[in-house]
Order: sequence, then C-alpha cells, then structure tokens
Amino acid sequence: HHARDLPWRRTRDPYAVWISEIMLQQTTVTAVIPYYERFLAAFPTVFALAAADEHDVLKLWEGLGYYSRGRNLHKAARVIVEKYRGEFPSDAVELQGLPGIGRYTAGAIASFAFDTRAPIVEANTLRLYSRLLGYRGDPRSTAGQQLLWDFAGRVLPASDCGRVNQALMELGATVCTPSDPQCPACPLQRDCIAFRSGAQHDIPVPKPRPAVTQVVEAAIAVRRNGRYLLRQRQPNERWAGLWDFPRFELSRGEESKKLGNTDSVRAELSQRLAELTGLNAAVETLVTEFSHSVTRYRIRLLCFQADCRSGSVQRSETSQWVRPSEFGAVALSVSGRRFARLLGGQT
Ligand code: ADE
Repeated sequence: HHARDLPWRRTRDPYAVWISEIMLQQTTVTAVIPYYERFLAAFPTVFALAAADEHDVLKLWEGLGYYSRGRNLHKAARVIVEKYRGEFPSDAVELQGLPGIGRYTAGAIASFAFDTRAPIVEANTLRLYSRLLGYRGDPRSTAGQQLLWDFAGRVLPASDCGRVNQALMELGATVCTPSDPQCPACPLQRDCIAFRSGAQHDIPVPKPRPAVTQVVEAAIAVRRNGRYLLRQRQPNERWAGLWDFPRFELSRGEESKKLGNTDSVRAELSQRLAELTGLNAAVETLVTEFSHSVTRYRIRLLCFQADCRSGSVQRSETSQWVRPSEFGAVALSVSGRRFARLLGGQT
C-alpha cells in the first residue's frame, strides 16, 4: 500500500498543515483539494491571512460549509501574528488556546509540522483504534474518548511522531475503512482484537443519525434599477457573514395555500419582506424552486422575484444593491449562488 499523495503532505509548514486540517473537518479530501490550493495561493502565509479582509476569506470558503471555520481561521491568524509574532507554537496545549483549534487539530499541527509527541484522534484513527482495542462502547462518549486518546498517546514512538500519526490516519482512511475494511491487507491484523473476534463490522458502534427536519423557505430577489438587494447574514443566523437574498421560513399556513401560486401568498411575502428589510415591493414571479440540505434540515426553497416600489433599507441591515454582473465578487450562500445564476450575470 502507498499513502495518497495529498498537497498538504508535501509540506511541514505549520500554516499549511493548519489550513488543510481545518478544511478537512467534516469535509472530504476530494472536496478540500481545490479550496486548499486557492486558499494558499491567495493567502500564502499567516501574515497574509491576518491582514486579509474577512469577506475575502469567506469568499474563498464559499461552498465549503461550516463557515465559522473560516471566520475562526481569520481570528486565529491575527492572534498568531500579534501574540506569537507569526511563529506557530509547537506545543499542542498552547495551540488549543487558538480560535477553532481543538484537541485533534492541535495534535496534528504539533506532530506533522514540529514532530512534537502529541497524539491525534479523528474520524480515521477513532475507527482504527476502536477496532484494534475491540472497544464495543461508544467511542464518542467521555469514557470512549478517554480510552482512545490515552491509547493514541501510548502508541507514539519517541521520535518521528508526525510520520507515525499520518501513517495511522492513512491506514484508517484506506485500509481500516468504515464498511468493507481490507483486513487481509492490514499490517496490524495480528494485533487487532476486533479482527480476532470477527467484530470489525460491528466496531465502532455507529453514530446515532439526527432526525431530518423538513422546512419550506422563500428567497426574494428584490429588483431596483437593474440591481438586486443582497443582505449580509447576521451573527445569529446560519451562514453568518455570507451574503444572500432576503430569505425567511414560511409558516405552515403560508405553504398550505398552494405554494407560490396565490395572491395571498404574494401579499404575505411582501409583508414579511417589509418587516425584514423596510422595503415595499410587489412580489411577482416564482423563478424556481429547489431543495437543499444543511446540517439536519432539508429545505425546500421557493425563489421569487419582486419589484421594489418604495422604502429604504433599515439601518440594522447590512445590505447592498448589486448588478448581476457583479454577483461573482460577493461571497454568497450556496443556494443564494444558485438563485443568482438564474438572474443572469457572470456567475
Ligand atoms: N482527514 C483529516 N486530516 C487528514 C489528512 N491530513 N489527510 C487525509 N485525511 C485527513
């Protein structure tokens, strides 16, 4: 078996290791690679990132999801520059003091970049270690975490911890896979308690799946003089910091009135729009509708166009009027981008 040639494995720069590990949280290697390359090209050093505008960071994060990761990267870059003069700490505990850096990410940076003797437990090693130990409890419980982190510390050699940690993670990712693990190809087969008892398919116990909640939402493209209103999503909203069309959840009453087709729905939407933005607009065409998922929600999104008649945007709103040809420069939510493409312009 050969380890995969991944761009972040060609470096021991703690900055590059950090960016890749943050991107790889809750995101697949394939999805991460192009984002990683664009991000490092735009912000090649921690100084460049610290000096950046948050919007430019979010623009490069657009589509990757879990946007607090991008906001925390930016915050942590500023701390590293101000508090550590741009030099990453090599100590895992020190690294854990930075925004967005948890125990795993700290161990990854410390060991991959500095060969610090720091353990790691992430999705791949969690599965590998649970099987090696034949652990039938919940590996995400307090007791399970204690056991696995303790084990992860005990398997580390005196030196070369970065390579060993990456090798163990790679074994988890490529051989000790969630379904259909390749036990005959595994160098640790003889040491594996799960394999010995044929329990590799039952360990680790699966995560309980959160129930999916269905919701219906409306997004409204309000037009005035060839431009559309975009508002910045607020800190208490999902996708905080990204831009989007005015958007809100529809109540059951609103959806049941034959979605998008009756005058009363349009009137209701006009009312909601006025409350959100302070603008009076005539809600017109239902341009499209599509479904998308975010965390445990399945959202059916109705996309309307509206003509602005009067009013000015409330001061509490961060908003801008944007021509379709300029949509490409704005960090939009994924569903906002999909709607924006239908309204014309570059992207
Ligand atoms: N998942 C988390 N970190 C990773 C890495 N460095 N390489 C591959 N997959 C990973």
